[in-house]
Amino acid sequence: LAELTTDVAKAAAALRNGKLVAFATETVYGLGGDATNDEAVARIFAAKGRPQFNPLITHVPSLAAARELGVFNDVALKLAEAFWPGPLTLVVPRRPCCPVSPLASAGLDSLAIRVPGNAQARELLERAGVPVVAPSANPSGRLSPTTAEHVARGLGERIELILDGGSCPIGLESTVIACTDDRPVLLRPGGLAVEEIAAAAGAPIAEAGSDDAAPASPGMLASHYAPSVPVRLNATDVRDGEALLAFGPDVPVHAGAMRNLSPRGDVVEAAANLFGMLHELDVLKPKAIAVMPIPERGLGRAINDRLRRAAFQ
Ligand code: TXA
Ligand code: MG
Repeated sequence: LAELTTDVAKAAAALRNGKLVAFATETVYGLGGDATNDEAVARIFAAKGRPQFNPLITHVPSLAAARELGVFNDVALKLAEAFWPGPLTLVVPRRPCCPVSPLASAGLDSLAIRVPGNAQARELLERAGVPVVAPSANPSGRLSPTTAEHVARGLGERIELILDGGSCPIGLESTVIACTDDRPVLLRPGGLAVEEIAAAAGAPIAEAGSDDAAPASPGMLASHYAPSVPVRLNATDVRDGEALLAFGPDVPVHAGAMRNLSPRGDVVEAAANLFGMLHELDVLKPKAIAVMPIPERGLGRAINDRLRRAAFQ
């Protein structure tokens, strides 16, 4: 059962050690994990029981820390300076050296980042010394938690630690704005009014999907990720010129490139490796990537969902 604590140093150490820690922000409680630790990120999806890998928000203590991870254009800088710390998330291009797990971005080349308004949360991030991904700390499909008690009720049996930071004043997730080009686009309405954001940007905010220049919903964005070569699912053999994305201990023998998502057949480990290994095989430009069957249990469902989208071109 999750331990309840008010000890920020202890929670920071737990995060650094790859544990999952729920913490309060000004919007809702987040289920935090070290964003640079592939397995910690995978376990967040497992704990929430999410059937799909949607990209997560990375939390950092300052704009300076955010700029180490992503590229901020003029609009992004203006909005960050106006509203951070606060209930605004900015989606920006990842820096080439960005250490955040590709699973946190669901394989996209952009990253959602925010600096939370809650002082305890910023102290936690400062002390952890690593960027922290944190979706709302509730099981998938349930209400977002605004007290430590809500978190304990929903996830108490699946996570290690809850940092009690009282109740969340806003009670609604952050507003998500894409700043991947000069025109800011609203991806998710939330705790900060769009009118305020438009005023600070000095320009109207386009709605996602409203015209060709604005990307569709975040879910749609995520589904656009696919390798540049064909993907062949449920492969039990490897054909000439194919690379193999294997799973489990029994791997067909072949001459081409191979990555194994989890030699011991663990779906959480496989999820942690999925996007990184797909990218690694993709850049080798094989004729196709043959993917061995992944069991449809636990995170295997989310892995298969993503692979089916990658295979559908
Ligand atoms: O208030 C909040 O934002 C809370 C607290 C804990 O900070 N966090 C939260 O995180 O709601 P999460 O991971 O559940 O929200 C992620 C949102 C989704 O709408 C997702 O599609 C979008 O951000 N998102 C994340 N990365 C993205 C990306 N690279 N491109 C487009 N949308 C992205
Ligand atoms: Mg949520």
